[in-house]
Amino acid sequence: MKQIEIRHLRKLDAEFSVPGDKSISHRGILLGGIATGTTRLRGFLPGEDCLSTLHAMQALGCRIDRVAPDEVLIEGRGGKLLAPAEPIDCGNSGTTIRLLSGIVAGYPFTTRLFGDDSLSRRPMARIADPLRKFGAELICEGAGDRPPLTIHGKQLKAIDFSSSVASAQVKSCFLLAALHASGKSSFTEPTLSRDHTERLLPAFGASFRTEKKSIILHGPQRLEATELDVPGDFSSAAFWMVLAAGLPGAKLTLRKVGLNPTRTALISALLRMGAGIMEKVEQPTPEPLGTITVTGGGRLKATQVSGKEIPNLIDEIPILAVAAALAEGTTEIKDAGELRHKESDRLAVITKNLRLFGVPVEEKPDGLLIEGGCRIVGAEVESHGDHRIAMSAAILGFFAKGRTLVKDTACIETSYPGFAKQVALIQELGR
Ligand code: S3P
Repeated sequence: MKQIEIRHLRKLDAEFSVPGDKSISHRGILLGGIATGTTRLRGFLPGEDCLSTLHAMQALGCRIDRVAPDEVLIEGRGGKLLAPAEPIDCGNSGTTIRLLSGIVAGYPFTTRLFGDDSLSRRPMARIADPLRKFGAELICEGAGDRPPLTIHGKQLKAIDFSSSVASAQVKSCFLLAALHASGKSSFTEPTLSRDHTERLLPAFGASFRTEKKSIILHGPQRLEATELDVPGDFSSAAFWMVLAAGLPGAKLTLRKVGLNPTRTALISALLRMGAGIMEKVEQPTPEPLGTITVTGGGRLKATQVSGKEIPNLIDEIPILAVAAALAEGTTEIKDAGELRHKESDRLAVITKNLRLFGVPVEEKPDGLLIEGGCRIVGAEVESHGDHRIAMSAAILGFFAKGRTLVKDTACIETSYPGFAKQVALIQELGR
């Protein structure tokens, strides 16, 4: 079983970049696969989740060549996907199962989608409802509307749909189905979730308009292949940002990071906590990317995170909890019940792990109260099969007295291949 050992870090002075953005890599493969022509993705994330999407599109008849570890060429099927010969394994990836469902719902064949134990516990009613309204026949085989999913694709008809959750996976599933539905579809979400699909669709030649909180798309539409540079994943950069922000005297420069404003609310939260962070956008479209610099100063201060900010730092709450553990005062995270439906029940697991490090935490139904500034002691903690929980625990280990062991870290491969090596390098340089 893979594990990562960490010891207290004294200094950090580093400059590097992180692997490609997971959300954008998924979308590049999916949109490239249904477009006409050959799409080139540079900076593709070769993590297990994105490889699940890549293999899924191959199973639907797309030829995909990996010309380099982080570069792929996708020969789009021009809207003519083939029926898969077997059920498709989506692994650990919620983005794969939910976005792919939106695609296959509009094709005249049956697709069965399944995943690992964690994916089999994730709720699917949020996408099953709109897809059924579009006219697809969808069966959630797991109890409580959970995977496996069997989707009998149909000729879809446009619908208006208002989602009760601010979820980019639901929004993207909807938009992918709407591309195949005849007529005017509209989608509304309670607050703005990450907008990668909206930014990428025009790059593939699709058109839609936004009206207040709604997206209006007329279908059917065909996509044209394109070339895309995938920026570094802000969510992967986040681990190092918190490490540098909490370590007095630290200096860190992260290059070519995605700076899409629907993803970067962690920067605002850390700035409120007194962190020294600067972001500079160097390329604005289709996805903003640039440099982040962090300097570690005095002790961080507690903050409050809630409401509209939550969807824009949803994947960063495990590492924000680490910043909260270092900060003076009690940090309150509210309106984050969605965390119970991620790769693990993140509110429960963050609570469990922080307590093992000696950090007082109160778990609420939709959030956490974290009392920071206490002495952090090295601990042996489990990843609970969740990549972001494992990486957050490793970062907290750098601040702990003594030795920390994060167990069962194979899950990190889903989003950040090379994380353990980067930890070892930083450890070596920071002795
Ligand atoms: C993602 C959206 C988010 C996020 C996930 C990736 C995406 O999920 O947590 O890691 O690529 O669309 P929700 O949209 O369900 O909140």
